Amino acid sequence: MPILRFDRYNDLTDGEAQDRILAARDRLGAEAVILCHHYQRADVYRHADLTGDSLKLSRLAAQARARTIVFCGVHFMAEVADILSRPDQMSILPDLAAGCSMADMASLAKVERCWRELAEAGADPDSRYTPITYINSAADLKAFCGEHGGIVCTSSNARGILEWAFARREKVLFFPDQHLGRWSAHQLGIPLEETAVWDPDLERGGLSPEQLAGSRILLWKGHCSVHQMFQAAHILRFRREHPDGLVISHPECNFEVCRLSDYVGSTEFILRTIHEAAPGTRWLVGTELNLVNRLAEEVRPQGKIVQFMAPMVCNCSTMARIDPQHLAWCLENLVEGKIVNQIRVPEHEARLARIALERMFEAS
Ligand code: 13P
Ligand code: SF4
Repeated sequence: MPILRFDRYNDLTDGEAQDRILAARDRLGAEAVILCHHYQRADVYRHADLTGDSLKLSRLAAQARARTIVFCGVHFMAEVADILSRPDQMSILPDLAAGCSMADMASLAKVERCWRELAEAGADPDSRYTPITYINSAADLKAFCGEHGGIVCTSSNARGILEWAFARREKVLFFPDQHLGRWSAHQLGIPLEETAVWDPDLERGGLSPEQLAGSRILLWKGHCSVHQMFQAAHILRFRREHPDGLVISHPECNFEVCRLSDYVGSTEFILRTIHEAAPGTRWLVGTELNLVNRLAEEVRPQGKIVQFMAPMVCNCSTMARIDPQHLAWCLENLVEGKIVNQIRVPEHEARLARIALERMFEAS
């Protein structure tokens, strides 16, 4: 029987899609496991077997027993699942358009050009720089790090990974998120003057020889389009209106937002911190809207108030492409023994990427 085509699912009502997901799951049983990132929309998140931040999800993917990992997240997460899972397992992303705009801000061609330009500038990158890629990046960049003595980090271990890197080489090239790199450097006590932004669209990153020589960390000019919406002014206003309120942000927010926050950490950290907080506390949260809405509902019975940091809607619109219709489509295909949207990282790339990921697991 041929693959069931998606256009037959486009017109399903949400209710129909929900019923068909439940029926397909019943038939698949332990064959498939559904992993969901915390930013996933509620109508998909409710089907998760396991949830987490990027670090936790990568560990869960590596430990999964099911033959099929259905990843309701974004493309790089499904790639990591493929890299870390057994050869007889497969990773499926229900909608291939679920990418990460930040991950797209660094490409292998641009990172290799940067490495070449550092060599031309006499900076001898392979002995002086450790490349660190945020897990929000394509598999070939993780492979680049594996090959060049580098490592992967996530939002929950970036500071420790920087320490790992500085124990080995004197400088770091950090991509693609400048904000996570800057905040983690600050946490390590590295002054901002010892960091510089590498603009991949300019020759030599737009840096003078003096700037290059004076910086310990080169921060790739990349950012998250969701987290860039949160601003210091939002926090200042909240503090004026609620002097007893607490502020918590994701480290993809800009430096001022992180600096003004009471707590900064990964999505898992944000959830844990507010769940464990005293009843009756009020929180301003700087991360994606689906997570914040869900959290607000969960803690309301304890009298906790959770507010979203920005006045406008900021959700991860690419992750939200995974809707119940796409989930129903890939699960029903699996029931029929058909595979759609498998994410496969070529073996030579996966081998090197695994090295960089395993360094991260050892270091954290
Ligand atoms: P976490 O690792 O904190 O889940 O963050 C992933 C992410 O993409 C945040 O934008
Ligand atoms: Fe990427 Fe930003 Fe979405 Fe996270 S929130 S997956 S960094 S686009």
